[in-house]
Amino acid sequence: MGLWADQVVPRLADAALKGKEVGELRGLACAQLTGRVLELGFGGGLNVRWYPPEVTEVVAVEPSDVGWSISTKRRGRTELPILRHHLDGQRLAEPDRAYDAVLSTFTLCTIPDVRLALQEARRVLKDDGVFVFLEHGLAPSPRMAAWQRRLDPIQRTVGGGCNLSRDIPALVAEEFEVRVDHEGYLANKSPLTYLYRGVGAK
Ligand SMILES: C[S@@+](CC[C@H](N)C(=O)[O-])C[C@H]1O[C@@H](n2cnc3c(N)ncnc32)[C@H](O)[C@@H]1O
Repeated sequence: MGLWADQVVPRLADAALKGKEVGELRGLACAQLTGRVLELGFGGGLNVRWYPPEVTEVVAVEPSDVGWSISTKRRGRTELPILRHHLDGQRLAEPDRAYDAVLSTFTLCTIPDVRLALQEARRVLKDDGVFVFLEHGLAPSPRMAAWQRRLDPIQRTVGGGCNLSRDIPALVAEEFEVRVDHEGYLANKSPLTYLYRGVGAK
């Protein structure tokens, strides 16, 4: 990774994603977590304050050392054990059916082979486990979707591999029975702000 992707992108992502509006959506997503949780793309730990008391342990998957170090303070504010065991959601050295929940927020846009990561998420989830997601993705309007596709190459370059036009519910539906609880733009309507919040069941 270059200096930009390595040092700057994790800080920019953290700053962009720590607002109140997104925080409220994180709260709604995280409320569905229980037991042992695997968090894909832990980043700066912006979900930590939203983990409900039913969560007993979090295993973080995070390739970026900078992201992990940004999360230090936030991890310090909870008693919950949060361990960084993995660097890549595409390959998890975990037994099958080991987790009650897998959480992914603003990460499916960036993982290079997102299908592989979703297959891994399914594999490590218990049969009654849940895949909880809050992600930005493809907007329903053909005009905005066309902009997202046009801007994808630029966004991938400046955003550390982030894609604007991934069809999140369709991708999740390849592995899970998907329920979308909310979709729509944030107050600031842009190619980056069409969000999907939902749950996948095995
Ligand atoms: C936009 S940030 C979101 C961070 C955090 N999930 C949040 O909601 O604030 C995307 C995250 O995905 C992580 N990521 C990139 N490739 C990954 C991979 N192959 N496996 C797991 N995480 C990955 C990045 O390092 C980064 O922390």
